[in-house]
Amino acid sequence: MTLNLEDYYILLHPALAIVVGFPMLGLIARLAWQTRQRRLKTASGERNAIQTSVGTEHLRLGRWFSSVVVGLSLLGLGNSIFSTMVFKGGFSKEPLRYVLLSFMFLATIVSLILLYQAKPKLWRGIFATLTGMGVIILGSQKEVFRRTNEWYISHYYYGIVLTMLMIFSVAIVPDIYQDRKNRWRNVHIILNTIALVLFIVQASLGARDLLEIPLSWQEAFISGKCDFVLKGCPK
Ligand code: HEM
Ligand code: HEM
Repeated sequence: MTLNLEDYYILLHPALAIVVGFPMLGLIARLAWQTRQRRLKTASGERNAIQTSVGTEHLRLGRWFSSVVVGLSLLGLGNSIFSTMVFKGGFSKEPLRYVLLSFMFLATIVSLILLYQAKPKLWRGIFATLTGMGVIILGSQKEVFRRTNEWYISHYYYGIVLTMLMIFSVAIVPDIYQDRKNRWRNVHIILNTIALVLFIVQASLGARDLLEIPLSWQEAFISGKCDFVLKGCPK
């Protein structure tokens, strides 16, 4: 096998995204379409054969999916942060920082769990903000490769935006059901249709990143000798 332990760790995030995340997204999109068709047909008095449960099924999967996306982002960010800590001797240089960052990972997960439990608008807002802040703070660590000069094709920025959109989706669920004028429902449809497109782009950007990252034992040679601007390596 040509892979070391740290290379397997990098593979975990894409593998979970492909095996768990994207199949769920397909189901959610199909159920979303059926929910809409059913609602519109019922409202106009048309007969339809779509089951009543599509809305609740969409929600049930959607709630799981949001945690999967937050989890995937934490895993992706953890790749850079923890591989520097464990494999590149980061912990011995800055132990306090890494202990604090580990707490930050935990605090983000706890905030997400509390977001699922919260009912009043205020608490949903607070825990959604805390979860989002956790992801952003972890994402702004120096280890994370952000591709800021090419933000429009950055797996990092798309990942953060998608994570925020999924946290927001969880936070507004009761509002979608309570709002008789469907304003929250429309906000949800617009934002998550954009999210659907971004998820598709995100998969391609992730695959590109996977292609660009060298194996751990090749890294010193490649980043030392290859020219990434002129795209050349010594013969
Ligand atoms: C990218 C993923 C998603 C897309 C494209 C999407 C899209 C939609 C669409 C088109 C509808 C139907 C609106 C209508 O009645 O016209 C809907 C309903 C809804 N969505 Fe999503 N959604 C997504 C993810 C989520 C997530 C993650 C959650 C919650 C955590 C969620 C919660 C809901 C709820 C509560 C409804 C109302 C269902 C009902 O009427 O019973 N959605 N969504
Ligand atoms: C739900 C979809 C996904 C989300 C929300 C997501 C999010 C993230 C985030 C936030 C990061 C950390 C920032 C960075 O290093 O760029 C990351 C890293 C990464 N992701 Fe994804 N990702 C998703 C899907 C994928 C897929 C489908 C692939 C590959 C096929 C992939 C490959 C990678 C790679 C290679 C890294 C870099 C890991 C490292 O730097 O060590 N991602 N992802």
